[in-house]
Amino acid sequence: MNNSMRIWKWAGIGAVAIVAIGAAGLAFVYSGVYDVAADVPHTRLVYWLLDTARDRSVAVHAQAVQVPGDLASPARISAGADLYGEMCSGCHLAPGMQKTEISRGLYPAAPELAPGTDLTPAEEFWIIKHGIKMTGMAAWGKTHNDTLIWDMVAFLQKLPSLSPDTYKALVKSAPADHDEMMKMQDHDHG
Ligand code: HEC
Repeated sequence: MNNSMRIWKWAGIGAVAIVAIGAAGLAFVYSGVYDVAADVPHTRLVYWLLDTARDRSVAVHAQAVQVPGDLASPARISAGADLYGEMCSGCHLAPGMQKTEISRGLYPAAPELAPGTDLTPAEEFWIIKHGIKMTGMAAWGKTHNDTLIWDMVAFLQKLPSLSPDTYKALVKSAPADHDEMMKMQDHDHG
């Protein structure tokens, strides 16, 4: 066999192998053997694939997010605390809170946010606005404008330093006009 025949032989074997692997993959998917139950963890390979795809996707998409300069503003933090207590703590818990039924059953689990996250504020904003596919994490940007989402990001920066008492006080301190603001905000934002 000369060199070019050899190359064609291996190319042929490679193509057959790729088709066979693809067919085996499809057969596996259609067989229904993979367990999608939320009370059975993913295999390590599937977990790694999903986890890595999520982390990379968030990091890349968040690059375009412009972070406002006033995340340390007390008004933002207190508005964010109110929203967090109302919409997020049921899954992500809060200082002094016991686990809830939904937080115990979610898979992937909703991480407790009080110890802090490894995410940048831009990444937190992107996740809160757009949510994460096939997890319990909703896209809050469908119903909340960017200002309110940044308020929650501002609050998340403060959360690791809060005790159960300071957390409760902060949730109560929300500005009085805040509920009005939520009703009036425009719903078709960015
Ligand atoms: C129904 C449950 C649920 C609610 C309510 C919820 N989340 Fe989540 N959230 C999740 C789950 C589950 C994940 C993990 C997704 C994953 O593993 O990819 C998550 C992930 C996150 C993350 C990424 C954390 C990290 O360290 O990777 C942030 C930040 C976050 N949520 C913020 C919020 C905020 C703010 C709210 C309220 C507006 C909220 N979530 C409401 C279920 C929820």
